[in-house]
Amino acid sequence: MSWVSQTFTSTIGRKLLVAATGLFLISFLIIHLIGNLQLFKGDDGLAFNAYAVFMTSNPLIKTVSYLLYFSILAHAVIAIYLWFVNRKARGSERYKVSNANENSSWISRSMALLGILVFAFIFMHLKDFWYYYKFGGLEFEIDANGNRDLYALVAEQFKSTFSLVAYLVGLVALALHLVHGFQSAFQTFGLNPQKTAKQVTAWFSIILVLGFATMPVYFYFFA
Ligand code: HEM
Repeated sequence: MSWVSQTFTSTIGRKLLVAATGLFLISFLIIHLIGNLQLFKGDDGLAFNAYAVFMTSNPLIKTVSYLLYFSILAHAVIAIYLWFVNRKARGSERYKVSNANENSSWISRSMALLGILVFAFIFMHLKDFWYYYKFGGLEFEIDANGNRDLYALVAEQFKSTFSLVAYLVGLVALALHLVHGFQSAFQTFGLNPQKTAKQVTAWFSIILVLGFATMPVYFYFFA
């Protein structure tokens, strides 16, 4: 059996895939947040719109984007599969594990539910912006540089109360998912993070997500 099929078919291989894709998705989130901060530049979105053109036309970034879509799907599908297998294995030992469960945090026990919420959030989010920008179906305004005005679409979207609430709920689920997932990925790779390292990854996750939350809040209340 090749190492590729072994990775996909063994439990440890699958756990490593979930951890590796999870860390890759976190690195995407850092870049995505930095890029999106251009929404606050106060130039009517010119820099943000130019950045969106670059991100969707540069061949290298386009290739990384395919890896990103694959990682989102692989992370979700394999993690849910592992959760089912784990649940089935525990079924007959429910009483034995109930004590252990009391010691694990609510977040760690709810990773599958939080992951499903985050997946639903990503689905909604891609439909809101990425789909229209990539595949059409919406008349975009054109900005002073001749680029399609994605900034105007973001600003308009976040004027809706439904969007504000849906984004904030999705972001809370993301923050909780990352707080546990980030340190859990290190554990899967054999590193046993100490309390301080766990606190650093937890705070990092919270600050990252707060950064995203500033965007819907800014456009809803202040723009
Ligand atoms: C709340 C603040 C956010 C804003 C304003 C925002 C904005 C955008 C926009 C305008 C796009 C389409 C343009 C493009 O494809 O480059 C996009 C794409 C995307 N966003 Fe976000 N985003 C936010 C948060 C998030 C979060 C929290 C996630 C993940 C949990 C996420 C995941 C994605 C993905 C996967 C894409 C497609 C990227 C690609 O095709 O390479 N975004 N976002």
